[in-house]
Amino acid sequence: MKTQGNSFSVVILAAGQGLRMQSTLPKVLQPLAGISLLERIVLTAKKLKPSRIVIVHSAAQAEKLKEALHSIPDLHWALQAEQKGTGHAVLQALPQVGSVEKVLILNGDVPLVQEQTLIRFLEKTQKYNIGLITAQLENPQGLGRIKRNAENQILSIIEEKDASSAEKEIKEINTGIWNVSLDKLNAWLPALKSNNTQKEYYLTDILTLAIQENESIVCTAPDANYEILGVNSKMELANLERQYQRVCAEKLMQQGVTIFDPARLDIRGEIQVGQDLSIDVNVILEGKLQFGNRVSIGPNVFIKNSIIEDEVHILANSHIEGAVIGKGSSIGPFARIRPGTELAADVKIGNFVETKEAKVGANSKINHLSYIGDAVLGRDVNIGAGTITCNYDGVEKHRTIIEDEVFIGSDTQLIAPVTVGKGAVIGAGTTITKNIPATQLVHNRIEHRKVDNWKRK
Ligand code: UD1
Ligand code: CA
Repeated sequence: MKTQGNSFSVVILAAGQGLRMQSTLPKVLQPLAGISLLERIVLTAKKLKPSRIVIVHSAAQAEKLKEALHSIPDLHWALQAEQKGTGHAVLQALPQVGSVEKVLILNGDVPLVQEQTLIRFLEKTQKYNIGLITAQLENPQGLGRIKRNAENQILSIIEEKDASSAEKEIKEINTGIWNVSLDKLNAWLPALKSNNTQKEYYLTDILTLAIQENESIVCTAPDANYEILGVNSKMELANLERQYQRVCAEKLMQQGVTIFDPARLDIRGEIQVGQDLSIDVNVILEGKLQFGNRVSIGPNVFIKNSIIEDEVHILANSHIEGAVIGKGSSIGPFARIRPGTELAADVKIGNFVETKEAKVGANSKINHLSYIGDAVLGRDVNIGAGTITCNYDGVEKHRTIIEDEVFIGSDTQLIAPVTVGKGAVIGAGTTITKNIPATQLVHNRIEHRKVDNWKRK
């Protein structure tokens, strides 16, 4: 959608070193709910359909940042060779914003601001040369405080490091999100001075210049405060992660999902739910997931990029990735369902079973201790405990085909490529090396031998 009458570009500040993270991974590449801080803010910016998105980066982190975002098209990069402050950073981006009227400034380390909050902000500041998002925080520590006069007009922003103890009492803070006319930025940024504790060119000081020119300064608040929280340390990252997880859990509960303990659920992706999904504790849901109706997820379950159809029960400690689980199927406890697994309706996968690239027909059962990989199983197949598809000969992978109604006894190895015909029965302990025709009974287990009255040495 077109969010404001005037044209605009987005500048995202991401050149800070993030030293407080104590990490070799740049601060803005640290993940929050599975997606890096920078990617989150870039994806939100994209939704606003700006003329351009310009990311300000340092020389040291250029490669890592570009590599991390390589799949997102049409990003512009501006180098800030030395980190001389947020005002200096925005100045480096200006040559790349194009011929637009406005510049929306976002911070790479404030990842969760929502599209709706930004749209409201852009609309409200549309007719003005300068606006910013401010918020009232119970604990404003570390952030720039908004100073107002008796008439409640903004006077300036004081950084924590420059603030007196009285100023530190102020609860209204600068979120670092600005919407400013490009021609004003061109005039104001080169005029900034670095006469502060950190010897930096503060973007916040454009306020003083704007006030001198009698500009009205428009402030809006975010829809919710978690949206504007920044991340400067691992503590803040963990804190914001929990707040965001609470928001995700609440959205799911509003859709009718039963969550046994919202504090013990982690959502790292996009989840589509049906009716009556119930989720036990310590569950991680990642990537793109689709759930049908009346699904239950037991404790300690991990599910990634999968489709789970109606009435599926996933029991404790199961790990599922890249799979389709058919209606009425039951998984686990302790099952590992790997990518390429497609289960039809009413399939049973029991404990210590691993599947990979396996298509399994309706009503088939693999109940215990088996590996089924690169295989196609028909319907009503029964796989005994300890069955292994030997799919790998050390060089290549081969397929196993097991047709409808086959019964495979325990401790069977199927040396692929091999086909077991419809209705065949394989006796326990068999190693299958040749194709088995339909309805045949096969076993090659070693003869039972005995020695009477044998005495141990
Ligand atoms: C900044 C604001 C503060 C606000 C807070 C909100 C200023 C002077 N202060 O403080 O008022 O409350 O954000 O989160 O603007 N950056 C660069 N180049 C630089 C310095 C910083 O690109 O030379 C980037 C950082 O990577 C970061 C953002 O700008 O993404 C903010 O910088 P940071 O040092 O974290 O500023 P704060 O102290 O948080
Ligand atoms: Ca910050």
